[in-house]
Amino acid sequence: MVCLGNICRSPMAEGILKKRIAASGIQALVDSAGTSAWHQGEAPDERAIEICLKYGTDIRKQRSRPFTRDDFSRFDMILAMDRENRRNVLALARTPEERSKVSLIMELVHPGREVEVPDPWYGNGDGFERVYRMLDEAAGCLVAEIGQQK
Ligand code: 4NP
Repeated sequence: MVCLGNICRSPMAEGILKKRIAASGIQALVDSAGTSAWHQGEAPDERAIEICLKYGTDIRKQRSRPFTRDDFSRFDMILAMDRENRRNVLALARTPEERSKVSLIMELVHPGREVEVPDPWYGNGDGFERVYRMLDEAAGCLVAEIGQQK
């Protein structure tokens, strides 16, 4: 799960997906990172923490870290929140296989439509509610997809 700061969207995506994966009985390594190191070591934004707690997901222990090239070998899927995040991750890919792991997270819900998860950082709290719903829908699709492959 990759966004810009790794303090709003991708920590929410990590928490939401971990919760859905645990409930489904699937075993998977889920993590998140930012394309910047601006907030490295910081806990998620208070507004992200709050909305996740409201829906029963505790992301308070997460800490921001930058995306690195090693992530291409550690993970099978790299899901970017918006096109800028995807572009920045793709710029670090060294092989066609690495490039093939990268997509927009909302492709899981609306394939081919290039839907972005909007950055809620500058707006009012409403943005976080919308982001939560989008990410929960995407996480639900991903768990269903993995479940079918098993
Ligand atoms: P995120 O949100 O990419 O969803 O974690 C942002 C967090 C911080 C900044 C931008 C977006 N920032 O400019 O510091």
